[in-house]
Amino acid sequence: MNQPNIHQPNIQLIRGFKDILPGETELWQHIERMAVSLFEDFGYREIRIPIMEKTELFSRSIGEDTDIVEKEMYTFPDRKGNLLTLRPEATASICRSYIQHKMYAQDPVRKFYTIGPMFRRERPQKGRYRQFYQIDAEIFGVEAPYADVELIFLLRTLFDRLNVTDTTAHVNSLGCPVCRPRFKEALSKLLADAAPSLCSDCMRRKDRNPFRVLDCKVPGCREAISGAPSIIDYLCDDCRVHFSTVTDTLAHLGVPFKVDKQLVRGLDYYTRTAFEIQTGALGAQSAIAGGGRYDELIESLGGPQIPAIGFAIGLDRLAEIVSLNTPAAVRTPDLFIAALGERAKKLAFEWSTALGLKGIGATMEYGDKSLKAQMKQANRLGAGGVLIVGETELESGAVVLRNMATKTQSEVPIAGIINKLMETISKPST
Ligand code: HAM
Repeated sequence: MNQPNIHQPNIQLIRGFKDILPGETELWQHIERMAVSLFEDFGYREIRIPIMEKTELFSRSIGEDTDIVEKEMYTFPDRKGNLLTLRPEATASICRSYIQHKMYAQDPVRKFYTIGPMFRRERPQKGRYRQFYQIDAEIFGVEAPYADVELIFLLRTLFDRLNVTDTTAHVNSLGCPVCRPRFKEALSKLLADAAPSLCSDCMRRKDRNPFRVLDCKVPGCREAISGAPSIIDYLCDDCRVHFSTVTDTLAHLGVPFKVDKQLVRGLDYYTRTAFEIQTGALGAQSAIAGGGRYDELIESLGGPQIPAIGFAIGLDRLAEIVSLNTPAAVRTPDLFIAALGERAKKLAFEWSTALGLKGIGATMEYGDKSLKAQMKQANRLGAGGVLIVGETELESGAVVLRNMATKTQSEVPIAGIINKLMETISKPST
């Protein structure tokens, strides 16, 4: 075994990665529970996909010219030289899985959710990490605009339940292969004139994939395209009807939204409805969720022609906002057993494990500490009660139970103590 070297610095986290510590995890669990219960009420089922996939899956679906694929993926060859990538998002993998397992064969309509880490090598800042978490939901096999509304409605409902109110749903339509050529022509004309002001990435993108220029964050490019046309003004009849049904139904349901003609998403696979939930609470990283329709993606990955739509919530960002209005509900011990002496400790250990199995959180001090020190410890832990057991109690056959809230004490006989404690101690305090 290597000897620890006191001269070496401690190993730190990778830049842009972070630990989610106890105190925060309770809040994350709360958010995850709320999301899962909502998804399950609406018929979504959990899918778990791998953290790593063949690089090609992401380059083909997210798009070769996107920032994600060009600059942000963690890609490396394995020992045989196969290129693998840590997933930057979940949609592509869910499509791959849906196709690979022919899930469409029995019933093409499927609703999935998944929660887990994603990886993008972006410049870290508040709300932007290199490993971050998403809560993702997808609907496969529904062309009707009601699926689009359902997803935006679910986001609104989840945020309401979490008391996240300072948000706006931005919606747009990105058209389809029928309406895009005319828009592309108009855009390409503008980009040709604006060429001298474009960044080197956009110079390349303007011919290969002009839509991507609309998503560039470089200030010079943003200014150059400020007069760019919006695809929503070029929609074909079907896309127009689809979009107006989405907006009419959202209005009918009372879901607030804003049509945002400038909204383009950072991934290539979108068609028709695209949306983002934005907030002013997080500074520059204003999007806490984003999604849209991707009716061509499954076919382009080798599956049948099946429409689909989904969203992903940035869980790190959502947790930061929720933490502003909801204290994390940390579970404190229901009982602290202050045991004095070996005989008492042995018994206390038996009791604490038996109580744990019955759902009563009991804890104790394994080392040798005075009663005073143990009482202090129980206080610090926020224990609901303290059971005091020492030689005197063992002799008398009864222990002392102190209620830490009311500061009252009672005697509990040792015979049948577990049942007695179960009756006395109310359900776990969370
Ligand atoms: P996205 O807009 O790239 O969409 O990501 C969704 C959300 O993930 C963002 O709105 C943001 O809250 C969060 N997010 C993204 N990057 C970071 C980061 N570096 N640090 C912290 N949070 C981040 C997608 O990923 C699509 N797959 C969504 C989707 C599902 N579309 C259809 N189905």
